[in-house]
Amino acid sequence: VGIIDDVQELRNTKPSTIPERFVRDRTERPKLATCLLSPSDIPIIDFSKLTSGKRDECQNEIKQLATACKDWGFFQVINHGIDLSLLESIEKVAEDFFMLPLEEKQKYPMAPGTVQGYGQAFVFSEEQKLDWCNMFALGVEPHYIRNPKLWPTKPSNFSETVEVYSSEVRKLCQNLLKYVSMSLGLQGDTFEKMFGEAVQAIRMNYYPACSRPDLVLGLSPHSDGSALTVLQQVKNSSVGLQILKDNTWVPVQPLPNALVINIGDTIEVLTNGIYKSVEHRAVTHKEKDRLSIVTFYAPSYEVELGPMPELVDDSNPRMYKIYNHGEYSKHYITNKLQGKRSLDFAK
Ligand code: SIN
Ligand code: FE2
Repeated sequence: VGIIDDVQELRNTKPSTIPERFVRDRTERPKLATCLLSPSDIPIIDFSKLTSGKRDECQNEIKQLATACKDWGFFQVINHGIDLSLLESIEKVAEDFFMLPLEEKQKYPMAPGTVQGYGQAFVFSEEQKLDWCNMFALGVEPHYIRNPKLWPTKPSNFSETVEVYSSEVRKLCQNLLKYVSMSLGLQGDTFEKMFGEAVQAIRMNYYPACSRPDLVLGLSPHSDGSALTVLQQVKNSSVGLQILKDNTWVPVQPLPNALVINIGDTIEVLTNGIYKSVEHRAVTHKEKDRLSIVTFYAPSYEVELGPMPELVDDSNPRMYKIYNHGEYSKHYITNKLQGKRSLDFAK
């Protein structure tokens, strides 16, 4: 990362114009009118109802979950059981990390074509526009995907906090996947059995305020390559996430203490499009910085995936081929983010 590409450093120079590399083509620019729309109410799922053990309550919530996955691909989960103090701790270490001097953060550089470390992921050419965002990402599980050299020593409790947070989020993902499979009328352990030892990664996105939010994007439009993604929108930061719903970009209002869940490409393929991974992007704010913490939960790299036979029939003909998930992941991280292009690999 050159200094000029580091968005926090760039912002601190108070540039009188936005460097060309960040200025989007007209068609890609976020319309301010959209940003000012009152944020959409994406569905809310009460996790405690799913796990309450009261049959009717649980069945009803599973129905809500089915609708959320089918019609939105995004929902917010409340009463998820993760300690609020842990959500606060991960926010704090992420914030502290991004506030370190650039030289310190650059001890953990993201190598080109990878998504671990500090830098700008998914950049492959000089012509490509850059996102108004600094990222720090780590592979967490299984252990063999970790690169210990990239785990920061500052702040001192960073690694331990990521470890504890990730194991809690992992349990949440496993539980949610169980209910997602039940919402399709399948056995609760269907996905778990298919996934093997699931791959889990964490990414922290720091979006500095931008004097021209109408010209730049915080994060390019994309769908996620994961099965499920868990997004923590940090308290008191601006609204930034937008999802493409019925061809309109709709902002997602952060709900205090809730986690935003979205369906990734993997679930779209497995369900043969019954549940879709929804395109989303992040926009910036004129005065406020924004921080988000994202967990990706995906199958083991070894597994072969494709639409589940029980979800393919004459009314829902097969949309995707069978492929190796490791190859899919490689393809995902070595191409620029571009809407739902990532799924072309599976066609
Ligand atoms: C992401 O899609 O990875 C992050 C979006 C956000 O920061 O809200
Ligand atoms: Fe995403």
